[in-house]
Amino acid sequence: MQLSNKDLLSIHNLTTSEVCKILTLSTKLKALQKAGTAHKLLAGKTLGMIFNKASTRTRVSFEVGMYQLGGHALYLNDSATQIGRGEPIEDTARVLSRYVDGIMIRTFSHDSVEQLAKFSSVPVINGLTDLLHPCQALTDLFTIQEYKDSFQGRKLTYVGDGNNMANSLMFAAAKVGMDITIACPAAYQPNAEILELAQNDALCTGAKIEITNDPLKACEQADVLYTDVWASMGNESETNIRATALKDYQINAQSFAVAKPDAILLHCLPAHRGEELTAEVFELHAQEIFDQAENRLHVQKAIMALLMSPENLL
Ligand code: CP
Ligand code: NVA
Repeated sequence: MQLSNKDLLSIHNLTTSEVCKILTLSTKLKALQKAGTAHKLLAGKTLGMIFNKASTRTRVSFEVGMYQLGGHALYLNDSATQIGRGEPIEDTARVLSRYVDGIMIRTFSHDSVEQLAKFSSVPVINGLTDLLHPCQALTDLFTIQEYKDSFQGRKLTYVGDGNNMANSLMFAAAKVGMDITIACPAAYQPNAEILELAQNDALCTGAKIEITNDPLKACEQADVLYTDVWASMGNESETNIRATALKDYQINAQSFAVAKPDAILLHCLPAHRGEELTAEVFELHAQEIFDQAENRLHVQKAIMALLMSPENLL
């Protein structure tokens, strides 16, 4: 097991023990941060952060995380760089690799991230594509572990659009042996190729993966309820058609009535109250949701430390 100098593009590419290693270091780094103990594992290192889409949490948590690890982060967006003027990703990768020690990218096409990683000589971290959001799903595992202690025998139910979050949560659950049910309309199912890969991963861990179009039944006996926006970044022109197609795929009081009595609610944020969830359940479960948002910081610090420092330092 060697994460040093690797890329993190998809949870599917990690082994179960690598996932556990990330979660273990996240726990340690969170405790050190809370205790006010310095942990400058990336002193003198720089992370380049390419953003072709908007972000609050990802940008701030990576930037603050690098600072807390003793390093520095650069925010590189379309309008301030030659990326927005069409400089090829292959050239951007090779140029940035001469300056920085790691690259985080948030963009549209997953192929662009694969291409960036292929041409970079430094680790590349996927900060969200149309297909996957691995840093969020690893954070979600960490948050579930904090609230529920274990993954085996637990059930996560995702209700809504079968988007990048649904895809990444399938990979995450499959790796740690947690059952996952995705409730979505037939036209908004998760990516079929990812489902197949996750099902293969699940064979090794015993996780059950279920896709259904019955949102209420999906929530029965769930330990974790999860939802995300109906129209992701890049789908804005479909907002109205999606609102109609997904109107029954909401997490609300009825969802909690059939879930386990101690079920928690997670949402990667930003949330659209009155759409994928009600304002009522959001406020009842705000503690969990904002713990989840905070945990982006701790988990991404662990990811950066493992990828960007020599393995023997950790
Ligand atoms: N959850 C998440 O990635 O949030 P941002 O879009 O604000 O980064
Ligand atoms: N599915 C959402 C997640 C945002 C963090 C999107 O891609 O816009």
